[in-house]
Formats: sequence, C-alpha cells, structure tokens
Amino acid sequence: MFENITKAYEYIRTQTDFVPDIAVTLGSGLGEIADEAEPVCTINYRDIPGFPISTVAGHKGRFSFCKIGGKNVAFMQGRVHYYEGYGMKDVVMPLRVLHKMGTKTLMLTNAAGGVNYTFEPGDFMIIRDHISCFVPSPLIGENYPEGTRFPDMSNVYDKKLSDMLYSAAAELGISVREGVYMQLSGPNYETPTEVRMCRMLGADAVGMSTACEAMAAVHCGMKVCGISCITNMAAGMSLKPLSHEEVKEIADLKAPQLRRLILEGIKRS
Ligand code: HPA
Repeated sequence: MFENITKAYEYIRTQTDFVPDIAVTLGSGLGEIADEAEPVCTINYRDIPGFPISTVAGHKGRFSFCKIGGKNVAFMQGRVHYYEGYGMKDVVMPLRVLHKMGTKTLMLTNAAGGVNYTFEPGDFMIIRDHISCFVPSPLIGENYPEGTRFPDMSNVYDKKLSDMLYSAAAELGISVREGVYMQLSGPNYETPTEVRMCRMLGADAVGMSTACEAMAAVHCGMKVCGISCITNMAAGMSLKPLSHEEVKEIADLKAPQLRRLILEGIKRS
C-alpha cells in the first residue's frame, strides 16, 4: 500500500545520506530561494521512482537539499495538487518521504485568495488553522502506520513555530496577518457566493493546496507551520475578474520578501 514511499526513499538514499531538519514546500515564484543556500544535493522528481510530477508550468520539480545557518533544509521546488488529477495519497506522498528521511519540521507556503475584507493583495498570512473538509482527507484508506487511525487535529499549526514566524516578520519589517486557510479543490476559482460561504464559515483565505499536506505531516508526527501570500482578493470582492496571471504577478512581486521571511524562519526553527 505504501511501497511507493519506501521505493522513493530508497532511491534518494542511493543519492544522498542528507537528513533534513526542516522541509519547506515552495509555492510558485519562490524557487530561487534554494539558490541563496549552500547546496548539498539536488534530485529531480522525475528521477525518483513513483514520484508525482506537477503539470503546472513554471514548477521546477525537484528536491534541493541545502545548508542554511547550520540547519539541514530540504526545499521542495514544486508540488502536485489535487486539481491536477492526482489522488490525495499521491499529493501527500512527498511529505511522507521527507518524514522517512528524518524531517521533523515542515514549513508550507502557498498563494491564496483573501476572503477577509481587511486583507489586501500582497499581504502575508500566517496560517493559524485550516478548513479542509471540502476536499477528501489524505488519510482516507489504509492507515499510514507512522500515525494513528483517528489523529487529533486540534493543533495542526505549531503555535511556537507560528509565533516565531510572526516575530521574525516583525523584526524584518514585514507586515503579516494571521488567519484560517480554507482548501477547496480548484482548479476553478470560487464563485462570489462560495467566497461568502468561506467567510461565514470562518475562513480568512482560500486556496488549492496546503491543508491536506499539513494534515498528512501532522499525522506522521511532524511540526507544521504555513504562510500564505494573498495574491488577490477572492471572487466577488473586487471588480476585477480573477486570473492566474494576476496571481503569478503578485506572487513574483512579493517573493523576495517571502524568501527573507522563510530564511529567517528556517534559522530560528
Ligand atoms: N482562490 C483559490 N485559490 C487561489 C486564489 C483564489 O482566489 N488565489 C490564489 N490561489
């Protein structure tokens, strides 16, 4: 059932004995962060047996293992999404491989639409909690033996790590919000009524990744934190129609600031 994880792990171990302290999933526009680190080893996803490969243009599709400030860091440059047609098990498979390599901490980043009216495009949001129940749980099916069958989700986002990110941002002069991330399946953006529903249910931002990844990581015992880049106000909140181009433009514009926050977060983690 989980042989693909073992096979991928065994292939990686033929290439490197690197044990990450922390893994960072990089959303679009953030790939270059790995270039600022001391490289140890790079492995393309396409070379790893059974590894899910993204169909989204612009994703590099590789692990970059580096050293930053004395920490061993595994960057995931590119990830697969549920909307690409992968099952949830495949979506979270890379995180389980990272856990098998010894990773204890996971930092997730993403682009998201702002649902909270006080947010603005370009804001960052530290994820305090999520709503994932509109997409299938990645934990459905045979239980991944690293975790329990009915895992507690009271504290998915580690409070200490999240507080650390918040103070790191303040010291860097980067303003951040905090809030609840809601995952929907995509690939379509929401209707204005769906966005109203998200807000009524307590969401501050909406996106198409991350919550399922956080759940799978917590299930196998990793500490998790997450940062959303609010690339646009969600549907119906501004007069402009939504476009992937706008999302990419804001993500690229804000990438240098987010890179600084991620680097500082890694050092303090
Ligand atoms: N909705 C869902 N996902 C997103 C959005 C959005 O408005 N912006 C970036 N990712």
